[in-house]
Amino acid sequence: MDHFQLRDGVLHAEDIPLTRIAEEVGTPVYVYSRATLVRHARVFREALSGVKDPHIAFAVKANPNLAVLKVLSREGYGADVVSGGELVRALEADMAPKDIVFSGVGKTDAELLQGLEADIGQFNIESQEEGRELAAIASRHGKIARCALRVNPDVDARTHEKISTGKAENKFGVPIHRAAEIYATLAALPGLDMRGIAVHIGSQLSSLEPLETAFAKVGDLIAELRAQGQTVTHADLGGGLGVPYKTGEILPSPAEYGAMVARVTKPWDVAQSFEPGRVIAGNAGVLLTRVIRVKRSSNASPFVVVDAAMNDLARPAMYGAWHDIEAVQPSGAKSVSHIVGPICETGDTFAMNREMDTLESGDLAIFRTAGAYGATMASSYNSRGFVAEVLVDGDKFAVVADRLAAAAIMDAETVPDWL
Ligand code: LLP
Repeated sequence: MDHFQLRDGVLHAEDIPLTRIAEEVGTPVYVYSRATLVRHARVFREALSGVKDPHIAFAVKANPNLAVLKVLSREGYGADVVSGGELVRALEADMAPKDIVFSGVGKTDAELLQGLEADIGQFNIESQEEGRELAAIASRHGKIARCALRVNPDVDARTHEKISTGKAENKFGVPIHRAAEIYATLAALPGLDMRGIAVHIGSQLSSLEPLETAFAKVGDLIAELRAQGQTVTHADLGGGLGVPYKTGEILPSPAEYGAMVARVTKPWDVAQSFEPGRVIAGNAGVLLTRVIRVKRSSNASPFVVVDAAMNDLARPAMYGAWHDIEAVQPSGAKSVSHIVGPICETGDTFAMNREMDTLESGDLAIFRTAGAYGATMASSYNSRGFVAEVLVDGDKFAVVADRLAAAAIMDAETVPDWL
């Protein structure tokens, strides 16, 4: 459930008409709802009530906006970070260092040291090489890094190939059949406290079955490690739970996910952590846009050219993703149109032959389910600025990220005087 609903013929974010945000902030603009974020954070936590002391680390990559992170830190969420930049944001949003997990295949030495200096809760080690480097850095600085070994369970998550992470051919984690040996090697190194296993098989998962298969493999590995005398006190089960992007689409609910996790992990006797991103933030945000003009040059469907583009919302161009599109002030008329942005490539297409609210020049519209992997994936392609972000809370709202004008981006460039 979200808080973007029609009231008196106008789409609102909580108590604020989106027309007001468009007038005061301009478009395109991402609009987030605090009440929706909080609701999702609580629903996910309640879903894990069958798991002993679950630790929830929001996947910052899904929405790194400081205000969004602050809302979640107030809900007791920690952070799953994948770069030094995300680590700084999580700390800035008052997430406790002990509640921060550092994932990612390419942590640099500088980032490993940054994590050690911040005394974060856990590093998810993605390779034997990374483990050795971290051990060396930690020893040199007289520190101990708490670690989980991320395994690649070779399970097909049955999601888009670009966001699948748990197949043997994907770059993530160590092959599960070698995990016990690598764990033992790393556990023997000074500077590392090897305490558990991490797994994450992909994102926008529409079935719990691949997750259950992966978790069962992790359970077997934990038993094998213990039989070999290793200590395993923690398991990080990653994120990945999908959300509906199309009206009427049914996905596994957080409650179903939590029940499956509780059932499969019951015998493990470990502290468990989770890294949800999309399920928390996805439906808590929309991208608000204005129609620049409607191009009717043939008898085919018209091109509705909006002021948002693939640089603002990359998912349709990158993954062929569907986002529901709705008029902010629907007249009731429906028609079939192509929805496109102004960028000069055909990939800048949000929808083809979509039956939806009829839009005319100057109308406002929203792309739904844009709170995760939306603004965070924005670029300045075609020398467009970076899109602005707004957070709504009841009857108040604030700009939580200024529009970064194309001119400001150009200011960071220099033409050498020898040109
Ligand atoms: N943990 C790890 C280690 C991850 O790599 C990810 C996402 C998550 C947690 C959070 O997954 P979630 O709960 O959000 O599914 N840009 C793509 C999604 C990329 C996901 C990358 N990893 C998209 O727009 O669909």
